[in-house]
Amino acid sequence: MTDHGSWWRHAVIYQIYPWSFQDSNGDGIGDLPGIISRLDYLNDGTPHSLGVDAIWLSPIYPSPMKDFGYDVADYCAIDPRFGTLADFDRLVNEAHRRGIRVLMDLVLNHTSDQHPWFQASRSSRSSPKRDWYLWADPGARGGRPSNWTAVFGGSAWEWDRTTRQYYLHSFLKEQPDLNWNHPDAQEAMHEVVRFWLDRGVDGFRLDAINWIGKDSNWPDNPTRFFALRSYLRQIHHYDRDQPFTHTVLQLLRTWTNDYPGAVMVGEASSDTPGGPAAFYGKGTDELHMVFDFRMLKSSWDPQRFRRLIQQWDRAVPPGGWPTQVLSNHDNSRHYSRYSRGVDAETAARRARAAALLLLTLRGTPYLYYGEEVGMRDVRLRYRELRDPYTRRYWPFLRGRDPARTPMQWDRSPHAGFTAGTPWLPVSPDFERVNVAHEAEDRASILSLYRKLIWLRKTMPALALGSYREVPGGPPDCLIYLRETGGEVSERLLIVINFRPNPRRFSLPSIDAVGVILLSTDPHAAGESFDSAHVDLGPDEGILVRLHA
Ligand code: GLC
Ligand code: CA
Repeated sequence: MTDHGSWWRHAVIYQIYPWSFQDSNGDGIGDLPGIISRLDYLNDGTPHSLGVDAIWLSPIYPSPMKDFGYDVADYCAIDPRFGTLADFDRLVNEAHRRGIRVLMDLVLNHTSDQHPWFQASRSSRSSPKRDWYLWADPGARGGRPSNWTAVFGGSAWEWDRTTRQYYLHSFLKEQPDLNWNHPDAQEAMHEVVRFWLDRGVDGFRLDAINWIGKDSNWPDNPTRFFALRSYLRQIHHYDRDQPFTHTVLQLLRTWTNDYPGAVMVGEASSDTPGGPAAFYGKGTDELHMVFDFRMLKSSWDPQRFRRLIQQWDRAVPPGGWPTQVLSNHDNSRHYSRYSRGVDAETAARRARAAALLLLTLRGTPYLYYGEEVGMRDVRLRYRELRDPYTRRYWPFLRGRDPARTPMQWDRSPHAGFTAGTPWLPVSPDFERVNVAHEAEDRASILSLYRKLIWLRKTMPALALGSYREVPGGPPDCLIYLRETGGEVSERLLIVINFRPNPRRFSLPSIDAVGVILLSTDPHAAGESFDSAHVDLGPDEGILVRLHA
């Protein structure tokens, strides 16, 4: 792979949840050999494949799996459920051979309580690793050092009987928070970063970055209105979002700068002060990319989308690069989110319009495995749930397991995911919603994703062009231009109808004709476009090349 530089600016990145992608040995859990066997599906160099440029693997490190890999017990090895380091090397090789880059998930804020670092830290107060984690004496009134709550419920402080202090955990009690102020802990993480980059990975997705900086005087957080989750009953002033996070990200940037082409994309809460864009720093000194989850959290609403897209486009500083994402392993799948309260046909059309949106905005799109075939949340019974957070709030919150079910490959038993019993049930819709079936159908949502991804590769305006909203259209349509100037000037217009009825209107502010390159309606007829007579079907979106 030679094209270093900013390959990620014109890439489409695909998130694999390793538990659920492809099982190769019948134990019901996805694994690395399974992923390797599906690489041609992801990109075989031809438009018959999906055409993604990189995969991001959710954690595959040895782990007790309390948080399904986000509790890491060894940063420099592979969990035996997923395979071996040799399998991993083969994966990187095979991926690179196909032009697919590989991003690892780096969990920085916490480790597993089974990690040898924490085992040493908790062994005695005089352990050299004691201060690699955050320990505190009981508060002034006895009891916990502060009122801080954990994301997954309950207090963020856990009492350790042996050494008679509390340790901090922002997530599960099995996920103690690291002390990033400790130089040895920093250096240990630097080694981890080098370990993977030396092995040939192309970068990292950084987990939960805005938790890194916290106030080590442990002041109580202000509390607020009632919410189901105790975590949401506080304003998280002191237990996250402190400026120290920037110091750590700057450090990580200097580490990755030693490896040309290595990229970092960070996950931050949408309500972090200053917004997630704060973690671009000055644009070149912190993260290359940051996720903005505000659209992921929004309903299918053109007014909100318009505002959020505009805000995000402006928030990213020069040198930084936006991301676009609608689904991931922590949230309800967007197909399901956008279908609440509408009939199945509308929902299916919306999922197609959402694909057009995701793949034509400015910024690197992140796909979540299965969205390209139209996978939806799966209704699960309590006894089928695996994620502790999902179990804790069931049935009041939908939780995360419904969005983590096995990939739907074909109509064989368990959708071709496993020859054994899958760790989470396969969606009952798999006989209709699967790769094999949709690959042959030019009207399928999979064909639409493929077309869009391959179009992105051939049209610089889609990947790199500017974004400009077009005024004057109906309020329930989203209308924008993607443009490149200079020698290869290209003007693309995207129009998306957010309503389930047909629309006719004119766009005087454009005054141009062009050709419709793609419609989300597989049966749409027209090819030519005239801004004086825009004609859209229900929930239809179109991509137009405007003539100069
Ligand atoms: C991130 C991950 C999530 C995990 C949490 C704690 O939000 O995406 O899956 O549970 O961090 O590591
Ligand atoms: Ca397996």
